[in-house]
Amino acid sequence: MDSQTLVCLLLVAVIGVVVDCNSEGDALNAWRSQLVDPNNVLQSWDPTLVNPCTWFHVTCNSQNSVIRLDLGNANLSGPLVPELGQLANLQYLEAFGNNLSGAIPTEIGNLTSLVSLNLQHNQLSGPIPASLGNLISLSFLNLNDNSFSGIIPSNLFQLVQRGNLRFMNVSDNMFAGTVHRGNLTVTTIIQDPRAS
Ligand SMILES: *[C@@H]1O[C@H](CO)[C@@H](O)[C@H](O)[C@H]1NC(C)=O
Ligand SMILES: *[C@@H]1O[C@H](CO)[C@@H](O)[C@H](O)[C@H]1NC(C)=O
Ligand SMILES: *[C@@H]1O[C@H](CO)[C@@H](O)[C@H](O)[C@H]1NC(C)=O
Ligand SMILES: *[C@@H]1O[C@H](CO)[C@@H](O)[C@H](O)[C@H]1NC(C)=O
Ligand SMILES: *[C@@H]1O[C@H](CO)[C@@H](O)[C@H](O)[C@H]1NC(C)=O
Repeated sequence: MDSQTLVCLLLVAVIGVVVDCNSEGDALNAWRSQLVDPNNVLQSWDPTLVNPCTWFHVTCNSQNSVIRLDLGNANLSGPLVPELGQLANLQYLEAFGNNLSGAIPTEIGNLTSLVSLNLQHNQLSGPIPASLGNLISLSFLNLNDNSFSGIIPSNLFQLVQRGNLRFMNVSDNMFAGTVHRGNLTVTTIIQDPRAS
């Protein structure tokens, strides 16, 4: 039993109140409730289980905390939800090749363990939140082939110097302005040919 669950159960026993012991499962279930899932890839996501670690497409660490979501090419429609920002240990958010729409929630910037954010080939839109500049562990960022607009926040580029960002594909969107390769040392920036 992980420490979080233990603390929850102790609270239930000592104070006699019903507390929420499956906060990561609740966060994922909040996302599922917003999604259209014609292929039933989320069928195993049972919120009554003690944690989401046995759900398909979800991987946990030894403390039963979610570290991966693998939902690429799953034919899902709907938004990303702010609750995803509660998955404190999430390292891989792989949701490419779906029909996700709406904006990236600011709360995604809370995922400071995130190594890979792969949202390519969706219908996402709006500006890239500046909070993504907090993703100090991020190495791979795939935002290509969506409808994102606005400017790419400069603190994302600072992740190259201060963080771990090594690969970023922002091609095939509706961004304003130009990304200059010249002021970046290691990151591979893939962008629209028309904005070179
Ligand atoms: C994806 O879902 C749509 C319905 O929303 C369905 O018409 C289509 O066949 C599905 N595609 C695949 C590859 O499963
Ligand atoms: C994609 O998502 C939009 C908005 O949620 C929906 O109207 C549309 O039917 C979806 N398309 C497919 C192929 O699932
Ligand atoms: C998550 O992000 C939001 C918006 O960026 C912020 O207001 C909130 O305090 C953050 N929550 C935690 C637990 O860090
Ligand atoms: C970057 O994104 C574009 C548009 O989706 C794609 O055609 C290209 O193959 C991607 N490049 C790399 C290196 O992944
Ligand atoms: C990159 O360099 C160009 C000029 O070479 C400058 O205009 C631009 O602001 C710089 N971008 C960032 C994010 O530092």
